[in-house]
Amino acid sequence: MKADANLRRLLAAAVKAAKAAGAVMRRDLNSAKRVNASSQHDIKLELDVRCQQIIERTLRAGFPRVAVLGEEGVTGDLESAHRWVVDPIDGTVNFAHGIPHACVSIAFQSRLEDGTHETRVGVVFDPFAGELWTAIRGGPALLNGRPIRISTRARLNEAIVSVGFAKHRSTLDQMLPVLNAMVHRVRKIRVMGSAALAMTYVASGRFDAYVEPGIRTWDIAAGGLILECAGGDYWQHPLPGRHRHRVMANNGSLRPALGRVLRRHWKEIG
Ligand code: IPD
Ligand code: CA
Repeated sequence: MKADANLRRLLAAAVKAAKAAGAVMRRDLNSAKRVNASSQHDIKLELDVRCQQIIERTLRAGFPRVAVLGEEGVTGDLESAHRWVVDPIDGTVNFAHGIPHACVSIAFQSRLEDGTHETRVGVVFDPFAGELWTAIRGGPALLNGRPIRISTRARLNEAIVSVGFAKHRSTLDQMLPVLNAMVHRVRKIRVMGSAALAMTYVASGRFDAYVEPGIRTWDIAAGGLILECAGGDYWQHPLPGRHRHRVMANNGSLRPALGRVLRRHWKEIG
């Protein structure tokens, strides 16, 4: 089988899985939800786990040997050549409060010789807006089957920049000075509560950039590929600890201006 056909099969499985979990999210948006755990800045729902199980069942039915790295746990051998990276509900706090801004995020990654992973297929599905973003590395980024492109805005003072604070005191403390430095320079700041949707909104030209100091791989893997395939700049830097990154996703044109503001706070930006 040709590589392209394989990737298309992987994409089809990821879309099927995302739609199956999305249907449950849509049905249950306004129902009472069982909380498995909560902390000051986070909520974990029983539905997170159930949605990951639905996704895993679908993905592993077609590809039983591919491991799953999910926000709600790992299945299979993560040391193997390929893995799925799954966030069953990205935007859980929104979803828990009945705010229809959350999504399913699924990426397929292959391990490279240097041990890092390359995303080859990305799917982000917003079941409330009925928006499905898809990409296969080397191809176009699509929204409901139509090609999308990043915005062309190059001036920070015209830009909409989405930010995230993650969920720990340390990431909140790291983000506040960045927010303070940016808020007077940009047209608007947006804090929407779903990293994967922030990435696809940059890919679609709705936002011009999205910045977060300590995000996890499952939040950004699929959106990162979709952004790159839409012509954007997916800058991310791995942090100590497993599956953690800084991210500065942008339309490419804004990279110099954004970098000038951020490098005072994030030493990783060259
Ligand atoms: C969170 C959301 C949020 C971001 C956090 C993520 P979750 O994911 O993407 O926007 O700021 O860093 O952890 O917990 O809703 O899956
Ligand atoms: Ca997430």
